[in-house]
Amino acid sequence: MKFLKKYGIVILSAMVLAGIFYLRYYSSTSRLLKGEKLYKQHCANCHGDEGQGLKKLIPPLAGADYVSQHKKNLPCIIRYGMKDEITVNGQSYNQPMAGILILEDDQIKSIIDYMLTSWYPEEETLSQGEVREILQNCQ
Ligand code: HEC
Repeated sequence: MKFLKKYGIVILSAMVLAGIFYLRYYSSTSRLLKGEKLYKQHCANCHGDEGQGLKKLIPPLAGADYVSQHKKNLPCIIRYGMKDEITVNGQSYNQPMAGILILEDDQIKSIIDYMLTSWYPEEETLSQGEVREILQNCQ
């Protein structure tokens, strides 16, 4: 009892902290799983399971200079697609990509988290607030 009185508060704080860390870990892992599922559903058909792209038709998403240089455009590209001619890793692409309008802000965030964590671990992902704000200002 004496021990508990003395260290109870320390033990309790440690348990609370562990709980908080677990929840944060759990929610980021489940977001990644969600992102992976959404990626497979909505992007992999064209861009490939590993983000490798398809020959000269579809640009890659993994190891693509375009992605790291246009991180802040990702939300708008996903929602509204793109039709400009672009150059990715020195190769030009000019097939249009249709936007994927059924994805909600939060689902777009999950896909971006999945892409960046899997293929650009050195890049910080976009926060929920950033994704929302960017999506309100797509041109
Ligand atoms: C129907 C095929 C198709 C689907 C589905 C598709 N894309 Fe694309 N995507 C393209 C094409 C084609 C381009 C090239 C557009 C251009 O040249 O203007 C492109 C370009 C891009 C680019 C910019 C170029 C690059 O490779 O970095 C990003 C980022 C991108 N797509 C992400 C996604 C994501 C994320 C999804 C799923 C939410 C998705 N795309 C779904 C066909 C597709």
